[in-house]
Amino acid sequence: MPGNPTYGELEQRVKVLEKNAVELRQTKERIRHLNAVLSSIRNVSRMIAKEKNQDRLIREICRSLIENRGYYNAWMAVKDNSGILCVAEAGLGRDGIPLIEKLTNSGLENCCGNVLSCPGILTIQNPASFCTDCPVSHIYEGRGAMAARLEHSGKIYGILTVSVPEAFSTDPEEKALFQDVAADIAFALRNIEVEEERRQTEDKLRDARDELERRVRERTVELELLSSKLLNAQEEERKRIAGDLHDGIGQSLSAIKFMLETVLERNSTDAAADFASLKTLVPMLQKASEEVRTIVMNLRPSVLDDLGILATVGWFCRQFRTVYSFIRVEEDIDIREKDVPDPLKTIIFRVLQEAMNNVAKHSHADCVWLSFKKNRNAAVELLIEDNGDGFDVPAFLSVRSSEKGFGITGMKERTELSGGIFEICSAASAGTVVRALWPHQR
Ligand SMILES: Nc1ncnc2c1ncn2[C@@H]1O[C@H](COP(=O)(O)OP(=O)(O)OP(=O)(O)O)[C@@H](O)[C@H]1O
Ligand SMILES: [Mg+2]
Repeated sequence: MPGNPTYGELEQRVKVLEKNAVELRQTKERIRHLNAVLSSIRNVSRMIAKEKNQDRLIREICRSLIENRGYYNAWMAVKDNSGILCVAEAGLGRDGIPLIEKLTNSGLENCCGNVLSCPGILTIQNPASFCTDCPVSHIYEGRGAMAARLEHSGKIYGILTVSVPEAFSTDPEEKALFQDVAADIAFALRNIEVEEERRQTEDKLRDARDELERRVRERTVELELLSSKLLNAQEEERKRIAGDLHDGIGQSLSAIKFMLETVLERNSTDAAADFASLKTLVPMLQKASEEVRTIVMNLRPSVLDDLGILATVGWFCRQFRTVYSFIRVEEDIDIREKDVPDPLKTIIFRVLQEAMNNVAKHSHADCVWLSFKKNRNAAVELLIEDNGDGFDVPAFLSVRSSEKGFGITGMKERTELSGGIFEICSAASAGTVVRALWPHQR
């Protein structure tokens, strides 16, 4: 039978009971703290799911982290390669202002380089003596701090720092929870970044589409004008041909018909007189035949189909010299007929015809240089340069399409529609150069 405990034994038991009571209180306190942290983390997760704005997100997360007294205070800074993007805090109050200023002015690397270079959680048991140059470390007196970089897929987005009771700052469960919340925040920041990139790409695409639509609209208007000008030009051409036929061949044929009828009606027996009358018809027929040839030449010189582009260029220059004898024409032809693809031949002739007509009509030049070559890059190049008055090309281009001539627009359209590049350079008193180039004609 055990006897009554001695006084010493009782004292011993009281000490054990007291120790157990302290441990129980600490355990309860720890459980209360962990529950508070868990509840904060739940709020953070909700926030992450719904908030897509970076500033608001980090502000709300800081607020949630201190809301249930899980942490005394929390602050977070987000950066990119150019520096700090945003900083938020909760629980620091006015003490947080110098911290935010310091981070914003000197950057995260200078202030929290040790956190950025640490892959796990950095636990600081006594920040007041450890972070001596930190403007808020004095309010951590008697508390511990945990800090972690916000990292996702190898990219560091910033840091998160919280202060906790000193005893909990080294608790593995506490650290594991903090690590999880830092990882979740980094993931959310990555999502916001992806979303931002997607939005920027969409903006760029939308801008590109708007620009394209604008250009299509402009081009449509230009093409509509061009097609109406083409119709007008066709009408003009028909009028001109009708005029030529009426005034030229028409007159000649009427004269011939009249002469023949006169001879027939005369019913004379004077063969010599009839012969003389009929003889006068020969030059008339000759003239009519020349007129037909001229009209056909202007429509499409048969020499182009019969003898090719080189012969046509030569023929055109001869014609030009005859008509505009006061303009010297210098030719530099360095290309073979087979180097010019068939579909380009008519286009080259039309560009030459219009550029030379412009020289004659507008330039007051006394010399024109014509160069027609295949250059080193296998491009077919036509160049017409004059030494005349020149003109202000930008001013001409800025004039509304409906108010300007059709020649330059037509040359440009023909060249570009056939895969070429058209350029016209000119300046007052500096002559004019027209250049049409068709790259890579093998
Ligand atoms: N070689 C040139 N020298 C000086 N001015 C020129 C020359 N070529 C063109 N120009 C100027 O550019 C304008 C536009 O020429 P474009 O050929 O487009 O029209 P146009 O000759 O006036 O009319 P169209 O060709 O329709 O009969 C001319 O009116 C003229 O002022
Ligand atoms: Mg013209």
